[in-house]
Amino acid sequence: MSNRNETVPQHIVLAFSGGLDTSVALVWLKERYRCRLTAFIADLGQGEELGVAARKAEKLGADEVRVVDLREEFARDFAFPMYRANALYEGQYLMGSSIGRPLIAAAHLRVAEEVGADAVAHGATGKGNDQIRFEMTFAALRPDLTVISPWREWEFASRSDLLDYAGKHGIELDLSSGDRPYSIDSNLLHTSYEGEALEDPAQPAPEGLLFRVRDLADTPAEPETVEIHFEGGNPVGVNGESLSAAGVLQALDEIGRRHGIGRLDIVENRIFGMKTRNIYEAPSGTLLWHGHRAVESLVLDPEVAQLKEELMPKYTALVYRGLWFAPERLMLQTAIDFSQQNVTGDAILRVHRGTVQVIGRRSPHSRYDTAFATFEADDVFDQRDSSGWLRVNTVRFRAGRGTAPVQP
Ligand code: ARG
Repeated sequence: MSNRNETVPQHIVLAFSGGLDTSVALVWLKERYRCRLTAFIADLGQGEELGVAARKAEKLGADEVRVVDLREEFARDFAFPMYRANALYEGQYLMGSSIGRPLIAAAHLRVAEEVGADAVAHGATGKGNDQIRFEMTFAALRPDLTVISPWREWEFASRSDLLDYAGKHGIELDLSSGDRPYSIDSNLLHTSYEGEALEDPAQPAPEGLLFRVRDLADTPAEPETVEIHFEGGNPVGVNGESLSAAGVLQALDEIGRRHGIGRLDIVENRIFGMKTRNIYEAPSGTLLWHGHRAVESLVLDPEVAQLKEELMPKYTALVYRGLWFAPERLMLQTAIDFSQQNVTGDAILRVHRGTVQVIGRRSPHSRYDTAFATFEADDVFDQRDSSGWLRVNTVRFRAGRGTAPVQP
């Protein structure tokens, strides 16, 4: 057990997905602790048949199964705040998995409370990011609870060992993505793929592995226009239709999938410092990110806009590193949210063959001022004023011996 607490657990809640790691974890936990076990299945819109996972948990020996629909909460209270910040990890990754974990962990704690459990367990590996995100959340919200991390306790050293164990214990696996399971994580924002054949970063993804967005060759020949409507920094509708938070993500997901939007193949730096090759498919996230920035571009004060850009990498690192419930994330979020009051309006995007282009934007709070912007004559800006500004701002180049660059 990872916590100081050496007491034997009486009732464990395990976050269960039905994949290899959590299936083995369930059987192993029952075998090892011989206590009551509740399987908690989080619905973040992964689109898989959750009934299948629930039946599997029961079959593997869970005493109780709880499926919790978190889709609206995920969109409204986790994805949208992050999109208000335009968060992007290492310049490319939209953090679809990173933002799902604190919610899964928080809901996991709620289930533990409801069923009166004294321990929580998860199936994330001891090398990865997800264990940190889960356990940072547990620690921030319920530091008293015992946390069991099977990957850090059991004798298995690899996914191959898990496959052996699964074979011996009659654990059925969905091998539709190949004869060995990739590590896949899906929700309303994205699908991420890791492991197996992807571990060679020089090799393209095997044919048929990526299932979320269409291959470019299969996307429509004609472009499509998408309008996203924002209020106070949050998307509230698509193409003239008002939608719930999860509804927006779903609508954008469908459009994005059709046009092959948001596929990304990268090598990223994990929290512990090792590199990992990941493939992501984030159709809704990609459209939302561009749309939000487009409306912001009209309404934000220029200094606020630039400060927001500077805060973004810091905010992003906090989310990536599992610090969603830490005070510094809340502090930055408060500043970011303050900037969003007027981020109301529409972004008009064109999607075609895997590309997203912003082709228009409008807002009732637009600060865009044609009188100032125009190349035609105007009566708000006297171009002779620029001379004074330039004279003052070039003093350092003209005074004394100047600051002509010296070659190092
Ligand atoms: N590397 C990504 C991240 O840290 C994706 C992790 C996905 N998790 C998984 N179990 N496949 O956010």
